[in-house]
Amino acid sequence: ATTLGAAAAQSGRNFGTAVAAQKLGDSTYVNILNTEFNSVTAENEMKWDATEPNRGQFNYTSGDRILNHALNNGKQVRGHALLWHQQQPRWAQGLSGSDLRQAAINHVTQVATHYRGKIHSWDVVNEAFADGGSGGRRDSNLQRTGNDWIEAAFRAARAADPNAKLCYNDYNTDGINAKSTGIYNMVRDFKARGVPIDCVGIQSHLSNNAPSDYQANLQRFADLGVDVQITELDISGSNQANAFGAVTRACMAVARCTGITVWGIRDTDSWRTGENPLLFTGSGAKKPAYNQVLDALNAG
Ligand code: G3I
Repeated sequence: ATTLGAAAAQSGRNFGTAVAAQKLGDSTYVNILNTEFNSVTAENEMKWDATEPNRGQFNYTSGDRILNHALNNGKQVRGHALLWHQQQPRWAQGLSGSDLRQAAINHVTQVATHYRGKIHSWDVVNEAFADGGSGGRRDSNLQRTGNDWIEAAFRAARAADPNAKLCYNDYNTDGINAKSTGIYNMVRDFKARGVPIDCVGIQSHLSNNAPSDYQANLQRFADLGVDVQITELDISGSNQANAFGAVTRACMAVARCTGITVWGIRDTDSWRTGENPLLFTGSGAKKPAYNQVLDALNAG
């Protein structure tokens, strides 16, 4: 196959990108999006600050724009993200305790209900684990409502949209380390207790290389009985092309690694300003990393 999406589809996988609503009028951007990708994630437009700017008042204008562009062009949609300690609306930042918990769960229910039946996978909870060696939860206003906030969010999401796959998503979880092991233990506990969880997102914001145990880490999550998805891939540095190839081969080698999403289309679309961590140049040309990814997808 000659495009990323078609090549991934040969093995039943998807290959997606983050999309920004304000770029849907840029013809170079839209041409690459429509040609190359079969999955879309809203880069910012489905987050809490965007979708519930005032408590109980929901705004789906930009999120719907991305969703409809994707669905009208035959692409799946990853929902990102129902609850996160960042990009909360100001009103939620000022809440705590049972009031915040109630607002958070209501947010999950309302947004997942709005998009019911249209989202392939939801990042229900994003980045709730601490960096460093503790393997524990990150301190946040949500965490301070009680350790069970994550499972409460997953249960609410399942009730609102029973057919969406429900994911936990995080960064610095690319290899086997204290943080990824903390998440691994949570997922194992959720599976043992029947808390609904279907997938783990490994963001994969990388520099130069994937860790040598990247594939083993994907595999250990898959062995818990969840899908793994590479959700926000971007790679800086001089070994970029080889590293993109290695990440793609690792996913292809894990049966339950069901898809890869890159975090933007052209280098100029990236949040990593000046690092050029994506598959297309600012003018929309394919980079060496693109060819490595395509070859790895086609190798099956
Ligand atoms: O929308 C406002 C605009 O009105 C204003 O004029 C402009 C001026 O700064 O800011 C705009 O908001 C920015 C928004 O992106 C949309 O462009 C925010 O300042 C900026 O902070 C925000 O950054 C996003 C970041 O998440 C926020 O934490 C990035 O685009 C987005 O790529 C990034 O994505 C995250 C994932 O969601 C989770 N994992 C990590 C990843 C990278 O940080």
